[in-house]
Amino acid sequence: MRIIEKMESNVRGYVRSFPTVFKTAKGARLTDASGVEYLDFFAGAGTLNYGHNNDKVTAALIEHLQNDGIVHGLDMATSAKTTFMQKFKDVILTPRNLEYKMQFTGPTGTNSVETALKLARMIKGRSNIVAFTNGFHGLTMGSLAVTGNSFYRDEAHISRSNVSFMPYENYYGDDIDTLRIFRRHLSDPSSGLDTPAAVILETIQAEGGIHVASPEWLKGLEEICREFDILLIIDDIQVGNGRSGDFFSFEESGITPDMVTLSKSIGGGLPLALLLFRPELDQWKPGEHTGTFRGNNLAFVASTQTLSYWENDDLSKAVKYKSQVIRERLEKISSELNGYETDVRGRGMIFGFEFKEPGFAAEVSMKCFEKGLIIELAGAEDQVVKFLPPLTIAEEDLQEGINIFEEAVKELVQEKENHLREEF
Ligand SMILES: Cc1ncc(COP(=O)(O)O)c(C=O)c1O
Repeated sequence: MRIIEKMESNVRGYVRSFPTVFKTAKGARLTDASGVEYLDFFAGAGTLNYGHNNDKVTAALIEHLQNDGIVHGLDMATSAKTTFMQKFKDVILTPRNLEYKMQFTGPTGTNSVETALKLARMIKGRSNIVAFTNGFHGLTMGSLAVTGNSFYRDEAHISRSNVSFMPYENYYGDDIDTLRIFRRHLSDPSSGLDTPAAVILETIQAEGGIHVASPEWLKGLEEICREFDILLIIDDIQVGNGRSGDFFSFEESGITPDMVTLSKSIGGGLPLALLLFRPELDQWKPGEHTGTFRGNNLAFVASTQTLSYWENDDLSKAVKYKSQVIRERLEKISSELNGYETDVRGRGMIFGFEFKEPGFAAEVSMKCFEKGLIIELAGAEDQVVKFLPPLTIAEEDLQEGINIFEEAVKELVQEKENHLREEF
């Protein structure tokens, strides 16, 4: 760790939450250099939906490299790319009656978001974009402008104009219809809201603290977009790729976004980002939005393997089953915590356990790490413990991880009670 502390910028983050040197990983488990094993409920922030070093992926990558398969090809056609595209069409788009064109952007999620915003503005000839409270879309300048959290926004002393924030569902509690507010702003010529080119949102806000939009709210938002000629962009970077139980998180609601951003697990563990959009939105001139690393051939090879999970509904059913397991366990733990204000929210295999007491969630995450569980925080004040295990995790491992979380919470509660008793 000394080299990290000495040489790596202060900006480093996760290494502070999980201070050890990891050496190997398989499935839902990581092992550090001294042989200590950890269960992984973080899964590379949603990049490892199919687990670490998935056997099928490893074998395909080795074969590709041993046969001198193309590793870098700019955006030229390669066998790895055409195979991936065909499989994505056959396994994901066609069975869902979705007709999208595909644009390969730079390799991380934020590149896909930047592309979506640029294309939407170009098509509509409007500068404004509507984003939502607690949304997170990445940290390059355009994506940062549609990201809510001031912790990230404060450092960029540049103009972040051309974005208006509207309240997400339940932002003011469940008795206020936030879509009514949005509609009123759009209809009133004196509201001060410039008609946006697009709205961008996550159907389940992940970094923002696990806020789940209902199918009705999403449907209502889609109707508003159609009525006011606004493009609907769903950012499925973290909760796409099966996290919700369906391949796309919006499937349950029945909406059809105009654009969808995908990254993280689409690369089967390797960097890959892409943007899907309706064919008539493909208004780019050739080479107009370019870059060196667009379409990573090793990621295409990896992704082609992981897309096989979607050839039948086994994974989808497993995610929905494990979702129920997580929900029941977390709700039970929450109900047993007398005197602590908590909340459990989630869908599919992304859940948040919120502790209203400031700092408590961070203590829980730290204690979990000491006990061999890697679990991160979310929310504006890091008040939510975020459950994000690989979708392929075995049920015993899932139960074991939740047991560790439960033990950590109960020990901390006990320590606090003892402390109070000593004080009085
Ligand atoms: C919903 C969402 N959009 C965009 C991003 C940005 O992706 P990246 O960090 O790969 O740039 C993230 C990252 O966590 C995300 O969760």
